[in-house]
Amino acid sequence: MSRAHATHRALRWILFAIGLPAAVFAALVARELYGPLQREGNNDALRIDDALIARGEYLAKIGNCAGCHTARGGEAMAGGRRIQTPFGAVVASNITPDKTHGIGAWSATDFYRALREGRSRDGRLLSPAFPYTNTTLVSREDADAMYAYFMNRVKPSSRANEPSNMSAFFDSQIALAAWRVLFFKPASYVRDANQSEPWNRGAYLANGLAHCTACHGARNVLGAPIAGREYAGSMMPLNDWYAPSLVDAREGSVAAWSNEDVVALLKHGIAPHASSLGPMADVVFKSTQFLSTDDANAIAIYLKSLPTIATRSAPAREAKASARGATLYGTHCASCHGDEGEGRPNAYPALAKNRAVTMTNPVNAIRVTLEGGFSPATPGNPAPYGMPPFYHLLKDDEIADVLTHIRTSWGNDAAPVTALDMANYRNALRTSR
Ligand code: HEC
Ligand code: HEC
Ligand code: HEC
Repeated sequence: MSRAHATHRALRWILFAIGLPAAVFAALVARELYGPLQREGNNDALRIDDALIARGEYLAKIGNCAGCHTARGGEAMAGGRRIQTPFGAVVASNITPDKTHGIGAWSATDFYRALREGRSRDGRLLSPAFPYTNTTLVSREDADAMYAYFMNRVKPSSRANEPSNMSAFFDSQIALAAWRVLFFKPASYVRDANQSEPWNRGAYLANGLAHCTACHGARNVLGAPIAGREYAGSMMPLNDWYAPSLVDAREGSVAAWSNEDVVALLKHGIAPHASSLGPMADVVFKSTQFLSTDDANAIAIYLKSLPTIATRSAPAREAKASARGATLYGTHCASCHGDEGEGRPNAYPALAKNRAVTMTNPVNAIRVTLEGGFSPATPGNPAPYGMPPFYHLLKDDEIADVLTHIRTSWGNDAAPVTALDMANYRNALRTSR
């Protein structure tokens, strides 16, 4: 074989090796864009009664549809809220039964397809800011119940949908199609026969409708969930808050908690070792407080079964600022959290041995100190005690010092909070207002 011939052949192979996957990818993207719409089990002759509607209302709460689809001060489910993604904001749609502006003309199958496949009625690919990577697991029966609720109990609203506010590339259907080829496949919940009925129920809810992993799961640079790291923890877009890992004993794992305490956190917003803050308080308020005791217990059983890891404890470097930190703590914090960070049961969380304080990532402690906060008011905790905001009272370096103090006292052994941490997160506070 001549040299020229061999080179030619190698070149052909290289082109083939690059070209074939590219062609396959292009074909898959084209199918996403132009392929026929699936019509999974046509169920449009659905029999709707009050029991189905009531179940649908319950499920819509557990899915926290209103959390995104009801704007602050807006009509229920009429959309308009901006959902932040790393690539810009997507505006949640009007999903009231208005025939023109909402989903009033949709069939039960159209509705199921939106949850399962992330497609609008006309086939338009929806942004994964709508957590259909989770709702794809919702069963046809549960989707139908929610459909019955939306069509019969939600008030139609004529609020028109607005375009999203994404960087142009990520707004395009082609980009979404490519994203979906790489990262999304419609799926159904597969029962694990080796696990109990409640465990399976918990897994179905946490990974599906209740979309716990949408915040608590790690994501890649294109914002897609990373398989196997569904509970590994994640910074929320805009560096607002950190949703802790639910498999890390130093973060949010509940493996060592009793079932009862997990149920209390989900239904009441507080547990002996934790209180819900920021976005989690919102989730409890709008969604998980409504979980039936059985469903809350099922989620607890599932979460407790997740295999845990323990990150290496952060090196507790010599905290230089501790004298000033201790003084500030005595002046501004001790009246509620106690001289020894012991807190007061059912009122003020203990800060000693509190993971919200000692987590490697200090953002949540910074956030709550800047902004203050309330646990949500729930029947199990009707009059929650509040924490006042300190953003106007304390300078950045003072907050860094007082947080360093609580992160390194009473047996806590986390790294100091630096001026740089403060600069980062105070900035995020400004952009989120
Ligand atoms: C985390 C926020 C979030 C949650 C939770 C959420 N959605 Fe959405 N949803 C969105 C966004 C954003 C869009 C718009 C996506 C787009 O236009 O690309 C959307 C779109 C939709 C659509 C498509 C509407 C249309 O006109 O094409 C339907 C249907 C829908 N959601 C139903 C639901 C239901 C039912 C629930 C509760 C089970 C729910 N969503 C929960 C954010 C959310
Ligand atoms: C909108 C984002 C979001 C969703 C959805 C969400 N979480 Fe959270 N979660 C957070 C954030 C942020 C925190 C950290 C603040 C705090 O400690 O409350 C948190 C904290 C937690 C903690 C740790 C509490 C502690 O202090 O030890 C647990 C447990 C938890 N979430 C469970 C869940 C479960 C179960 C679901 C689904 C039913 C869920 N979360 C859904 C954002 C979310
Ligand atoms: C008036 C009483 C009060 C004062 C003063 C106060 N806190 Fe709090 N703090 C609370 C309450 C109540 C919560 C629970 C808030 C929630 O769940 O949203 C809390 C929560 C926290 C948390 C999160 C703990 C957890 O389990 O999620 C941290 C960290 C914290 N406070 C630090 C401070 C620091 C630092 C100061 C002083 C600069 C301070 N607090 C002053 C009442 C107070």
